Amino acid sequence: QFKQRVFSGIQPTNHLQLGNYLGALKRFAGMQNSGIETLYCIVDLHAITVWQDPADLTRATRELAAGYLASGLDPKKSILFNQSQVPAHTQMAWVFNCVARMGWLNRMTQFKDKAGKNRENASVGLFTYPNLMAADILVYKATHVPVGEDQKQHVELTRDIAMKFNNDFGTEFFPITEPVIEGVATRVMSLRDGTKKMSKSDPSDMSRINLTDDADTIAKKIRKAKTDPEPLPETLDGLQDRPEAKNLVNIYAALADSDPATIIAEFGGQPFSDFKPKLAELAVNSLSPITNEMNRLMEDPAEIDRILADGARRAQEIAAPIVDEAYKIIGM
Ligand code: ADP
Ligand code: NA
Repeated sequence: QFKQRVFSGIQPTNHLQLGNYLGALKRFAGMQNSGIETLYCIVDLHAITVWQDPADLTRATRELAAGYLASGLDPKKSILFNQSQVPAHTQMAWVFNCVARMGWLNRMTQFKDKAGKNRENASVGLFTYPNLMAADILVYKATHVPVGEDQKQHVELTRDIAMKFNNDFGTEFFPITEPVIEGVATRVMSLRDGTKKMSKSDPSDMSRINLTDDADTIAKKIRKAKTDPEPLPETLDGLQDRPEAKNLVNIYAALADSDPATIIAEFGGQPFSDFKPKLAELAVNSLSPITNEMNRLMEDPAEIDRILADGARRAQEIAAPIVDEAYKIIGM
C-alpha cells in the first residue's frame, strides 16, 4: 500500500572514500532510472554528533554534493539536499526519541565503536543518532534504503521504530523499510587492517582511497596496502581467512562491474607485486573522471548551493504533510 521510494544519506565529514563510492554513491546513481522516486541526503546533523570545525563542515557539505553529482546523480531525476535545510527531519526525530527504547540504542555497535572507551564524554546526539536516521527515512515513508553493511543495524532499528509507532497508535502509518545491501562492495575494508571497514573517519589516511586523491597517491596506497606473503589463490575458497587478499579482489571486482570468481579466474596464482599495479591502474582509471568532475563542480559553490536549496524545497514538500499527519495521530 506504500508507494516505492528510495532514501539514503552520507555524512559530510572529511573526504569521500572508496567504500562510500562503491557501497553507496555508485549504486545510488543506478537507482534513479528505475522509475522509483529517489531522495539522497547530505546528513550534516549526523556529522555534528562528533566535533566538526565549522569551515570544514561547509566545505565537506559542498564536496559531498559534488561527489554525488560527479558519481552520476542527476538533480532532475533525484532530490539531492542537505538535512539541516529540511526541518521535518528533526521534528520527526523528537517523536522517535520518545518511541525508541534505551535498551534498543544500547545495543547499537556503531555507538560503541565511535564513543570508544570514554562513553561518558560522548555527545547525547551520538547516542540518539539512530533515531534521527529513522526520521530521515520515515519522514518520506521511504520503502527502500540502499546502504553498506555497516548501516544494517540502524535500518533494523528504523523498522522497530516504525512497528512500535504503528502498534502504539493502532495505525499502518509507516512502512517497514527494507535495507538494500547488495553487490561485492557492501563492506570495503581498510587497506591497513583487513578486519576494519574503510572509513573516512579512520585516523590513518593510508587506510583508505579518497575520491580527492590524485593518481600517484592512489597507486602508492594500493602498493602499500597490507597483504599476506602468498600469491592470489586459484579458487574463491582460497580467499577465506585472507581478509586483505579478499578485500583487494572485491575492490577490483566492484570497480570492474564484475564478480570475485571472474577476477580469481583471471589473476589466481599471481603475486601481489603483479596484481597491485593492475588494481591501481583500474582504480585510477575509474576514479579520476569522478575526481576531475568534483573539482570542476567545486569551482562554482553558488551553483552547488542552488541545487541543494532546490532539493531542500522539494524534500520539505513531501515531508511536511507526513509530519503533520504523524503529529495528529499522536494527538498534537
Ligand atoms: P563513513 O563511515 O566513511 O563516515 P558514512 O557513515 O557517511 O561513511 O556512510 C555513508 C554511506 O557509505 C553508507 O551507505 C555506508 O554504508 C557506506 N559506506 C561507508 N563505508 C563503507 C565501506 N567501507 N564499504 C561499503 N560501504 C560503506
Ligand atoms: Na559510518
